[in-house]
Amino acid sequence: MKIDIRMEAAKSYDSNPSFPNDIPFYLERIPSPGASILELGCGTGRVTLALIPYCNYIHGIDLSPAMIAICRQKLIREGIPPANAQVEQGDITRFDLGRTFDLIIAPFRVFQNLETDAEVDGLLGNIHQHLAPGGTCILNVFKPFLFPEDLKKQWVRQEEKLSWEAPVEGGRLECYDRRPKMDTEKLILYPELIYRRFEGERLAEESVLKLVMRCYYPDTFVKLILDHGFTILDRWGGYAGEVYGEGPELVIQFGL
Ligand SMILES: C[S@@+](CC[C@H](N)C(=O)[O-])C[C@H]1O[C@@H](n2cnc3c(N)ncnc32)[C@H](O)[C@@H]1O
Repeated sequence: MKIDIRMEAAKSYDSNPSFPNDIPFYLERIPSPGASILELGCGTGRVTLALIPYCNYIHGIDLSPAMIAICRQKLIREGIPPANAQVEQGDITRFDLGRTFDLIIAPFRVFQNLETDAEVDGLLGNIHQHLAPGGTCILNVFKPFLFPEDLKKQWVRQEEKLSWEAPVEGGRLECYDRRPKMDTEKLILYPELIYRRFEGERLAEESVLKLVMRCYYPDTFVKLILDHGFTILDRWGGYAGEVYGEGPELVIQFGL
């Protein structure tokens, strides 16, 4: 198994005060109370736990044992039986659950963590294989805030900037971001998140999460999904009804 890049950072994940307001959006897209849902990159269960009361069964997969462990603790704490929800450590670019689902989701830009074409092809192939007849999938990426040529010139910066801070038990957590490098040919960003926990003014703990964020533009994201043999059913520019291509996110719902 690969090293868990989120081993240290996982415990800080839920403290982020600026998650997108995407849960009502996903709730609205559950096709029926009897639906089965597959969540790719479920993380600590931020979305998973919110969907459980509104579907028959939800199955989560995440690469990070540390994120899955937090998600499992939440399921146990809430008394959720395995008949309603299960999560497992696994790679969304290669898995076979031997069953299909009515809705497949990958909230908060999970898709952008896939660095290579082979991983992207693997994931989209797995979606094909795990969609029930009439089932749909929703994928989301952020819309880059700059055109490609400007992104290439302006994205990298060595100095770190405060991204958010939040009170935590016994002190506060600060999250900084650094942008040390970018693959300008493939438009892949390599940001780093630095989590610092303070007890009073004393730095008690620090961890660094090195991420991969592959960029997609409105047209390239649509083309990628069509090129993998899917039919696009709907698309949005964010979770507040923004027009596709005009908001901060790119969100596409598609089927077979
Ligand atoms: C930004 S978090 C999103 C977590 C959750 N979906 C949410 O909305 O809060 C991205 C998650 O995707 C997972 N991930 C990235 N690549 C993955 C892969 N190849 N297979 C499974 N999970 C992956 C990470 O471990 C991480 O938990």
